[in-house]
Amino acid sequence: MLKVLVCVSGGGTNLQAIIDSIKDGRIRNAEIVRVISNNKNAYALERAKENGIAGTCICPKDYGSRDEFHRAFLDALREAAPDLIVLAGFLVVLPEEMIKEYKNRIINIHPSLIPSFCGTGFYGLKVHEKALERGVKITGATVHFVDEGTDTGPIIAQKPVQVKEDDTPETLQKRVMEEAEWIILPQAIDWIANGMIEVKEGRCRFLS
Ligand code: GAR
Repeated sequence: MLKVLVCVSGGGTNLQAIIDSIKDGRIRNAEIVRVISNNKNAYALERAKENGIAGTCICPKDYGSRDEFHRAFLDALREAAPDLIVLAGFLVVLPEEMIKEYKNRIINIHPSLIPSFCGTGFYGLKVHEKALERGVKITGATVHFVDEGTDTGPIIAQKPVQVKEDDTPETLQKRVMEEAEWIILPQAIDWIANGMIEVKEGRCRFLS
C-alpha cells in the first residue's frame, strides 16, 4: 500500500478528488497518511478532517526564519514517512533538501499544459489570466515529478481543455479542474502506486 502525503494551501478540490478516487477504486493500493497545509484557514484541512485523515498546519509565519520553517516541515514529512508526496495546490517553494531526499517521489499538479504558462509567478488563477491574455484556444493541466526547478520535472500526464470565447479566469479555472486536474492527478497516483511508470534520463515512461 503506497503511503501518500498531500500538501495543500487552499480549497483542496484536488485533495477531494484523490480521497474520492481512493474510495471508488480509481486509485488502487494507496492511502493518504497525512495532509500538510501552510495555511491554517485552508478548507482542505476541513476536508481531511471530514474524511478521518490527519491534518497538520505548518505555517511560515509561526517560525522565526525560513530555515526554521523548513526544518519543521521536513520533520513532519519524515515523521509521516510517506512513499509519495503530492503537491495539490501547494503554493510554497520546497526546501532543496526535501527535493533531494524525495527524488522522483514528489508530484505536482499544475493548471496549464507545461511548458506553457508555468514557472515562477504562475500559480492558481494567475495561470488562467495569462492564458486568456495570450488568447490561447487550448489549455489544460499537467502532473509532473518535482525537481529543483519550478515546473521543470518529468511530465507524467497532461490533458487538454478547450478555451471558450466568453471564459473568465474563474470559469476557465473551474473547467480545467473539472475536465483535467481531478482526472489526471488521481490517475498519476494510481500509476505510481501500481508500479506502472518509471523515470529514466529525465523522462517519465510507462513500463510494459
Ligand atoms: C489548482 O488549480 C492547482 O492546479 C493549482 O492550484 C489550484 C489548487 O486548487 N496549483 C498551482 O497553480 C501550482 N503551481 P485546490 O486547492 O482546489 O486543489
